[in-house]
Formats: sequence, structure tokens, C-alpha cells
Amino acid sequence: MPTSSCGHPAILVAGGAGYIGSHACKALAAAGFRPVTLDNLSTGHRWAVKWGPLVEADIADGRAVAAAVADHGVVAALHFAALSIVSDSVRAPLRYYDNNVTRALAFVAALLGAGVTRFLFSSTAAVYGLPRMSPIAEHHPTVPINPYGATKLAFEGALRALEPAHGLRTVVLRYFNAAGADPEGAIGEAHAPETHLIPNLVRAALGLGPPLSLFGTDYATRDGTAERDYIHVADLAEAHVAALRHLLAGGESLTLNVGTSTGVTVAEVLATAGALLGRPVPHCLGPRRPGDPPALVADAGALRRRLGWAPARSDMATILHDAFAWHGRQGPGP
Ligand SMILES: NC(=O)c1ccc[n+]([C@@H]2O[C@H](COP(=O)([O-])OP(=O)(O)OC[C@H]3O[C@@H](n4cnc5c(N)ncnc54)[C@H](O)[C@@H]3O)[C@@H](O)[C@H]2O)c1
Repeated sequence: MPTSSCGHPAILVAGGAGYIGSHACKALAAAGFRPVTLDNLSTGHRWAVKWGPLVEADIADGRAVAAAVADHGVVAALHFAALSIVSDSVRAPLRYYDNNVTRALAFVAALLGAGVTRFLFSSTAAVYGLPRMSPIAEHHPTVPINPYGATKLAFEGALRALEPAHGLRTVVLRYFNAAGADPEGAIGEAHAPETHLIPNLVRAALGLGPPLSLFGTDYATRDGTAERDYIHVADLAEAHVAALRHLLAGGESLTLNVGTSTGVTVAEVLATAGALLGRPVPHCLGPRRPGDPPALVADAGALRRRLGWAPARSDMATILHDAFAWHGRQGPGP
């Protein structure tokens, strides 16, 4: 018998122990859903699963997926469970294709076998490759320049093929840069290794990590540093709730960017952090990283039009405030 029959539809959240997935679980619970996390804890954390049960399993474990669907009465699935470090994907493409495509296909097959046909997928701006125009709209050519982006694009293609054949309805959300932490401080970003700018900046500022390296100061941007579109993780989580409601109301499949449509440079992030703290953040200047585009800014208009979603906390000062609050509480770590 499903255990979630008290008016809270159960949603299977693959990767719900990770950074974005755990924030999505919180938003789902607040919106009246019951998140059921399925995670192998390869990069996620048991402590991040706070708003529903944890099924500790790999997405490729068809029996565990089918049992989770049956036990909890799952009506839809969110898929965050991927490997997502670009440089690792260059070194170990087989691992990335295995996890992000082969295992993800086994996951969808098990869901379809169990009768779940509503699916949200965490894709990425990396599917676009080097931007040919800015901001980047969804019709921008998809020419990924690393295996990570290629695996995400391959899985997007598989999802499209599954709709006419199996009735799978999907919202593909192409995130730009997720950042920040839960505004109430319950969860935050804890990757190891950490490759993202803001947690590394915060750790440098709090003396918990080395000075921040600025990769490239000679880009053709307004101050020479790379420009990105940062979306607060709580806003990103809300976008999932909006997309889920769309699918559960019978809405069509969609592919949507998630960003703010505004770019912020690394130097601007540093300046905002310095102003918040009242002192400069320790940093050093370094060369460009191969494959880093000068600017990656979303045209996020389609998401607003189709789902009525708009970011509420994604200004850089709020993102940094919430990230500082979270990391400040974590201490120096292991
Ligand atoms: N963080 C970003 O800025 C960003 C940007 C674009 C896209 N994305 C995508 O968003 C998703 C979530 O990113 P994140 O930063 O939260 O990553 P994360 O590493 O914190 O979370 C991923 C979670 O998936 C789990 N997982 C991975 N492979 C699994 C498997 N085979 N079986 C079961 N569980 C598995 C991990 O244990 C982890 O809990 C990923 O798909 C990533 O590619 C993230």
C-alpha cells in the first residue's frame, strides 16, 4: 500500500541528498508534496535529507526504483542524480556516460515500468557550448565542448524520443549557475572537491580555505573577468515546483533555461562580498581555464512566460548573505 495517501502526492527525487536536490525537497514539502529521496550518497549527504524518507540506492537499481514507487505511491520524478564536474568528465568520460546516460536511462525505464510518466530533468547551460549570442535562449545551437555537457544533451535527446513511444512528459530545466544556501540555514552547498566560485570565495573570506583563484582577467567582458548568471538555489528549487505543477496539471513537455537573464562578473561578485564583509576577500589572479567561455547568461524569459516563475532571492548580495550564513556555521570541515 502506498504510504503517502494523506493528500501529499509523493515525488521521487533522484539525487535528493545533493545540493540542489535537497533544496528542491524542502520546496516540495513546503508546497504540499512528499519528497522521497533516492540517492547512492556518492556526492550527497545523509544529513541533507530532512523532508522525507531516504531510499539509499543507485538510480540504475530498477528493483529499488520500482519498490520506492510502489511503497510511496510516487506520481512523478525529479532527476538530479548526476556527476557534474567538467574537468572530471574530460578525464573520465566513460564514468560520466555510464552515470549520466546509461544509468539515467535505466532509471527512466524503471519509472515507466512502474507507471510514472511525469519527469523533471536537471540539465545545464553546458549543453550550449561556446555561446554564439548572449543572452542564450533555448533555441541557441547545442554544441557541448566537454563530455559533461554531451552526456546531458544525450539524455535530453533520449527523453524527447521517449515521449511519443512511451507517453513520458518531461520538463528539462537547463540551469546556469546555482548558488547560495537555504535562507533558513537548514542546508547548503557542500561539494568535495568544490569547484564553484561562491563557496570557494566564502571559504576564502572566512579563512576556511585558500585565497580565491580568479581564472582569467583578460576576457572581453566589462572588467576582464568571466561573467555568469547566478540563480539562488531556493529560487531554482521553486522553479522545480512550478514545473512539477505544470506537468501534474497535464501540461506539455518543455525545455527551459533557469537563470536571471543578468550576468555578474567574478570581480563584481568579489566586490559585493567585500562590501558585505567590510574587508576584501583574499584572492589571487590566475590564467584562464581551458574551455571557460567569457560569458554565460541565460535568456530566462520562456520560464517566466510558461511557468509564471520569477526569481525572488537571486541578487548577488542575497546569494552571498545566505552562502556566508551557511558556511559560517559549518566551521573548517574535515
Ligand atoms: N550546481 C550547479 O550549479 C548545476 C548547474 C547546472 C546543472 N546542474 C545539475 O544539477 C544536478 C544537481 O547538481 P548538484 O550541484 O546538486 O550536484 P550534487 O553532486 O550535490 O548532487 C547530485 C546527487 O546525486 C547523487 N547521485 C549521483 N549519481 C547517482 C546515482 N547513479 N544513483 C543515485 N544517486 C546518485 C549524489 O549522491 C548526489 O546526492 C546535477 O544533475 C547537475 O548536473 C548543477
